[in-house]
Amino acid sequence: MTSHTSAPLPKREIGFNWHKRYLQQANWTQELREYIFKEIGLNGSSRALEVGCGTGAILSQTKLPVFGLDIELASVKEAKIHTQNRSPLTCGDALSLPYADDSFEIVFCHFLLLWLQKPQEALYEMKRVVKPGGHIIAFAEPDYSRRVDEPATLKNLGEWQIDALRRQGANPNMGAELAELFYGAGIKIIETGVISTSTHEASFDERAIEWETIEADLTGYIPDADIQKMKHLDNAAWEQGERLLYVPTHYLWGKNKV
Ligand SMILES: C[S@@+](CC[C@H](N)C(=O)[O-])C[C@H]1O[C@@H](n2cnc3c(N)ncnc32)[C@H](O)[C@@H]1O
Repeated sequence: MTSHTSAPLPKREIGFNWHKRYLQQANWTQELREYIFKEIGLNGSSRALEVGCGTGAILSQTKLPVFGLDIELASVKEAKIHTQNRSPLTCGDALSLPYADDSFEIVFCHFLLLWLQKPQEALYEMKRVVKPGGHIIAFAEPDYSRRVDEPATLKNLGEWQIDALRRQGANPNMGAELAELFYGAGIKIIETGVISTSTHEASFDERAIEWETIEADLTGYIPDADIQKMKHLDNAAWEQGERLLYVPTHYLWGKNKV
């Protein structure tokens, strides 16, 4: 059993408002989700599941009661509140889904695979619980290896964040590996691409949330003075209209073979 379950997650930053961050990320994929769900014909009789649902940011934006699963009990409890008890939620592991074979028409994830030590096994599990001909979708997986930071004085920030992700056990390049991963799991690829998250014009609020995340990730590893200096350079570049921050974030819509 041990080889098919996940190692404990790194401890969550106490006091950090993850839901706010997840809602911000959910906005980046809202159009894409609407488009794919419409193409698939998601409706009241569809059985759909989000694996790694976190605090319910995506589930709370989905009009229908989609099932949700997350490995962290605290997140599942929070998701219950954000979804107003509409969604059947379970605390469980993506590597050992507690559902029978062929249970769902659609299984999807959103910023999950980069956090898994064995993403391919998670895909096998998603495939197992999806009916033949059903859909398996990864809506957002970043590729930090192609991150662009301008002006050049901000390049260290990208490297610090990549190191922070690795320290937390994440694969910062998951987006670039997505198609190969799905193909390797025997899932037919219907459509894949990059979502548009290029931020020439991030709002003040978005930047504030981004910086809360950066500070939570870097504190204790990078001297505070260096973090604050970078924050100042970043804010100045935004104010002067010179900032470019781009992390290609990939999606993949796949289908279980009949
Ligand atoms: C970045 S969050 C994304 C949450 C949600 N999908 C969203 O986009 O708002 C990743 C989530 O994956 C969950 N997770 C990590 N490893 C998992 C595993 N092995 N099984 C199930 N969930 C897992 C974490 O607890 C966390 O809530």
